[in-house]
Amino acid sequence: MVNTKVSLSGLELDNPVIPASGTFGFGYEFAELYDINILGSFSFKGTTREPRFGNPTPRIAECPNGMINSVGLQNPGIDKVISEELPKLKKCFNKKVIANISGFSVDEYAYCCERIDKEEQVGLIEVNVSCPNVHNGGMAFGTSAKAAAEVTKAVKAVTTKPVYIKLSPNVTDIVEIAKACEDAGADGISMINTLLGMRIDLRTKKPVIANKMGGFSGAAIFPVALRMVYQVYEAVKVPIIGMGGVSSADDVIEMMLAGATAVQVGAANLVEPYACKNIIEELPKTMEKYKIDDLTSIIGGAH
Ligand code: SIN
Repeated sequence: MVNTKVSLSGLELDNPVIPASGTFGFGYEFAELYDINILGSFSFKGTTREPRFGNPTPRIAECPNGMINSVGLQNPGIDKVISEELPKLKKCFNKKVIANISGFSVDEYAYCCERIDKEEQVGLIEVNVSCPNVHNGGMAFGTSAKAAAEVTKAVKAVTTKPVYIKLSPNVTDIVEIAKACEDAGADGISMINTLLGMRIDLRTKKPVIANKMGGFSGAAIFPVALRMVYQVYEAVKVPIIGMGGVSSADDVIEMMLAGATAVQVGAANLVEPYACKNIIEELPKTMEKYKIDDLTSIIGGAH
């Protein structure tokens, strides 16, 4: 019997598989398809202080082995997440959830994190400083080590639960930003968010996406994500949640060998809603195939 359990800053997970924010709604939508209690946890849709309608459409573009999204942080706002979404989730998920919080100012991040920190079902807060689809917010805080540290400090000052900062790959040196977040008190790092990309429609000769550019994700970005997790693991002591193109149990193991303690699955859920279920079912067999008894023992094993 293999051991798939991992621990994220004291949050014990039955397995390291976590649907990524923005690809799993608030969980109850997927609970209609399968028992989501098999998941390690999941990260809910990026939440802001105010409700957001998101960006104009079209905001999705398909690509070989991936996709571009420019959703623009569509969400019902922190009040409704607390009063409506979390109660619905509680009916079908008896584990701790990861709260993904976004913002347009340091105060907004702190406000939303302080509110969500009080929710019993939240086990960990993932602070998204890396959304590439909004102006004057999101990624603006994640492309500067100083700004990322400022958000981290402000959030840590008002929360009690582990805080993981979700980093952008759209930077020259992601290691510098990860270190700045760790120095500012982050309990962990989530990485990577999407890569800024675009497509042009050959018939209209104009960008496919109304916002012109969007975040590229899916299997095509896996080697980039893996490389960045590997680099950051060498530089920080806090745990890493690795993500970016993970689509199979093999990918989960590869990501953990690079240095991830847990692994998020994003775009794969949009292609195959059972992706996480399939990966969780495959994981023990894949571990046996590669002679791994205990997943925790392989974290960073490639170094
Ligand atoms: C979005 O809502 O635009 C995607 C979220 C993100 O990339 O952080």
